[in-house]
Amino acid sequence: MIDNYAVFGNPIAHSKSPTLQTAFAEQTQQELTYKAQCVELNHFETAANKFFANNGKGLNITVPFKEDAFNYAKKLTPRAKRAGAVNTLVLQSNGEVVGDNTDGVGLVTDITSHLNWKIKGKRILILGAGGAVRGILEPFIQESPSTIVIANRTKEKAEKLANDFSDIFPITACSFSELAGQSFDLIINGTSASLSGKLPPLPIGITTENTCCYDMMYSKQLTPFLLWAEENSVKNISDGLGMLVCQGAESFFIWRGVRPETKAVIDTLREALSN
Ligand code: ATR
Repeated sequence: MIDNYAVFGNPIAHSKSPTLQTAFAEQTQQELTYKAQCVELNHFETAANKFFANNGKGLNITVPFKEDAFNYAKKLTPRAKRAGAVNTLVLQSNGEVVGDNTDGVGLVTDITSHLNWKIKGKRILILGAGGAVRGILEPFIQESPSTIVIANRTKEKAEKLANDFSDIFPITACSFSELAGQSFDLIINGTSASLSGKLPPLPIGITTENTCCYDMMYSKQLTPFLLWAEENSVKNISDGLGMLVCQGAESFFIWRGVRPETKAVIDTLREALSN
């Protein structure tokens, strides 16, 4: 019987996961099915039980079910535990469903392997302190940056996040205005502000000509954050399309034990996005 995979979310119609996972399967000659499934709110557990009872082998989980998936998993990887969210479920041969989170590895891989930007020894600024940022922190810390500052509209949330990771890295928490006078090698936008066409109020002078700016969101046009970066003469900019593909590739590797090539898939998705 053929192995089934799917992405659960709501809404799910615009998910790129079926496109990229099908491309990975073709490229690595793995026989499997991968579908997008819109799950009713409050029905995650029922839907997941049904999926795994019908030869389902693994799931990707997107908004708003990453915490449901965290609670559903019988076991969690350390990075999923730390993230408080699960984007990948895998059915093991003993029947247990394990929860993992590949978002952070996806981001780090895109930054270091595709963009060739450095994290090790660099001064990092992360904008935002929600679930998306919590999800990426541990793999980021493992790359040994020199400093990490988290700036957030609600400073208390940045402080809480810094505190939750204080056993592994000394993160500094601040408000946007407190960034004035500092500059950074790499700035990651992890706020959801871009979704509503907005930009966090960033002080002038926090970038230099060597700063790299990464937006975890992606879109056809430059996001407001990347437009801001360009206006501030930042040369190295990227949106999060590569992160999306790389987190998917890591999920695929967890399920199938084969690591797919990602660059060509990013290029194909980019082209489809601009049409
Ligand atoms: P996600 O899962 O995308 O992280 P979230 O947990 O709701 O969603 O977090 C959204 C993040 O974007 C938060 O850091 C939020 O700031 P607050 O903690 O102050 O709410 C940030 N955010 C959303 N809209 C913003 C805006 N217009 N300007 C600045 N920050 C914004």
